[in-house]
Amino acid sequence: MISKGIILAGGKGTRLRPLTNVLNKHLLPIYDKPMIYYPLCTLMLAGIKDILLITNPLDKVYFEKLLKNGEQWGISISYKLQVNPVGLVDSFLIGEKFLDGNSVALILGDNLFHGDGLIQKLLDMSKLRTGAKVLAYPVKDPERYGVVEFNSNGNVLSLSEKPKFPKSNYAITGLYFYDSTVVERSKQIKPSSRGELEITDLNNLYLDDNQLSVELMGRGMAWLDTGTFDSLYEASGYIRTLELRQGFKIACPEEVSWRNGWINDSQLVKLANSSISNDYSSYLMQLLEK
Ligand code: G1P
Repeated sequence: MISKGIILAGGKGTRLRPLTNVLNKHLLPIYDKPMIYYPLCTLMLAGIKDILLITNPLDKVYFEKLLKNGEQWGISISYKLQVNPVGLVDSFLIGEKFLDGNSVALILGDNLFHGDGLIQKLLDMSKLRTGAKVLAYPVKDPERYGVVEFNSNGNVLSLSEKPKFPKSNYAITGLYFYDSTVVERSKQIKPSSRGELEITDLNNLYLDDNQLSVELMGRGMAWLDTGTFDSLYEASGYIRTLELRQGFKIACPEEVSWRNGWINDSQLVKLANSSISNDYSSYLMQLLEK
């Protein structure tokens, strides 16, 4: 079982200025919660309790204020800095000590996953012992992402980063599961032509060794990225629609932790009472009544 997770929440969020002039992108709201709650809950749903959050020197204090050390949710959250955004693979170099030779799940702080069957998929993926597992999702604009090419038998032939002419419409999502060789492999990656340590190059290293498995996400699941004004707005709309209709909250860390058995009823009541009485705290109280 993978027990460690990394959330990458750095970057400058330039595409979202002026929203991000002051606030880190991952703290912007997705309807009723800060964006960072969504990837955090994805890791928690995968059964991961030991989490490293990587962010910028100026923003760390805000994440610490919001998420604390995770103890309130029965998990551990520690923090490390990424001074220059030099690519996703840097996460494993920054996190080398934290990983201490363990396998890991990496999630990008602006990736939102939801859907029926997702929890089981996450739990299955976190059983990884060797190699790497990534998720592929059909999109209309694959050229914006890492793209996977399959042969006629559905085997993976190659991965390419933001190709001008994508060989499929399957994008690789921002959730990756890697075995304990990830740090060693990351050290072999050289900066790409855009000067970044590309996650696609790391995935290709695993692929070259026949150690990469690509899982497809079905049509009934949602993978939303939130890096543009429209995708941010759409993600909020998606969450709002489902929450209002069903009466459940998506990505509520208190609830995930309680359902996982990481906090008990009285700890949940304490969390509900510790926040100002509003819709969110009433929701937490209602969980117990249901
Ligand atoms: C990164 C990865 C890309 C992946 C995407 C998922 O791109 O480089 O392979 O498909 O995340 O969100 P970025 O969002 O950093 O441009």
